[in-house]
Amino acid sequence: MVTQHEHKDFRPLDHLAIIMDGNGRWAKQKNLPRIAGHQQGVEAVTRIVDACIRHNIRVLSLFAFSSENWGRPQQEVNALMELLLHFLATQRQKMLDGGIRLRVIGDVSRLSGPVQQALDEAQQVTSKGQTLTLVLALSYGGRDEIMRAARQIAKSVSRGELDPDQLDNKQFSTFLDTGDIPEPDLLIRTSGEMRISNFLLWQSAYAELYFTDVLWPDFDADELQKAIDDYLRRKRRFGLTDDQLSQQCQEEIND
Ligand code: IPE
Ligand code: IPE
Ligand code: MG
Repeated sequence: MVTQHEHKDFRPLDHLAIIMDGNGRWAKQKNLPRIAGHQQGVEAVTRIVDACIRHNIRVLSLFAFSSENWGRPQQEVNALMELLLHFLATQRQKMLDGGIRLRVIGDVSRLSGPVQQALDEAQQVTSKGQTLTLVLALSYGGRDEIMRAARQIAKSVSRGELDPDQLDNKQFSTFLDTGDIPEPDLLIRTSGEMRISNFLLWQSAYAELYFTDVLWPDFDADELQKAIDDYLRRKRRFGLTDDQLSQQCQEEIND
């Protein structure tokens, strides 16, 4: 296996974000109930967490439940919440042993009391993890997150704590759920859909996008390797010209 640091044209991949899609279609293809697809989706999560650690990825953000997913049939929502509770209980020791720090983003106030408690507890006990930050987006929507940040900023201005003329991108970012988490370098979406579906809207401004037809329950270390290889071949310009980038690179080598 080629890890990112062994790749000859090394470019850091610190933060990987994934829209885990296709659980329902995976189940349908096998004549199974949708929840069986979600169960296999959890297996894929544990595989990809391990693979990310092997690749020295620092942050893995997973879109697990969107603000729009609340509109799904109640039975499916309940089953997803049960799976989440089961995941937290069974992965607890593994997270502690592996140095995994859990962080939740999204409007957690909409989650049930027991789910909120389990998430609080898991975040607290894993807070010292140094190897990988696992960001779970739950009851999460990018627009909702930006709107909540705007509301906080407005309150702060009205209390006289913040000068609106001083507000810049950097400070705005601190009001988002992601706070001090770096922006995603690579955003993967499985299952062939080519849309963002309200995930990390602000943070993905310059993320590299990778789409694959593979359904999430079938996503594995080999598929991740393909995405990383693809990412490592990309040229990230951030709005600059190739000449400027070469110059920056030369300056970094000289430093
Ligand atoms: C993604 O799989 C998981 C969640 C959104 C919770 P889906 O459940 O959206 O699967 P498809 O898109 O119906 O196949
Ligand atoms: C996005 O998948 C949300 C998650 C992966 C949790 P959806 O299946 O809900 O997105 P759409 O409806 O296809 O855009
Ligand atoms: Mg879907």
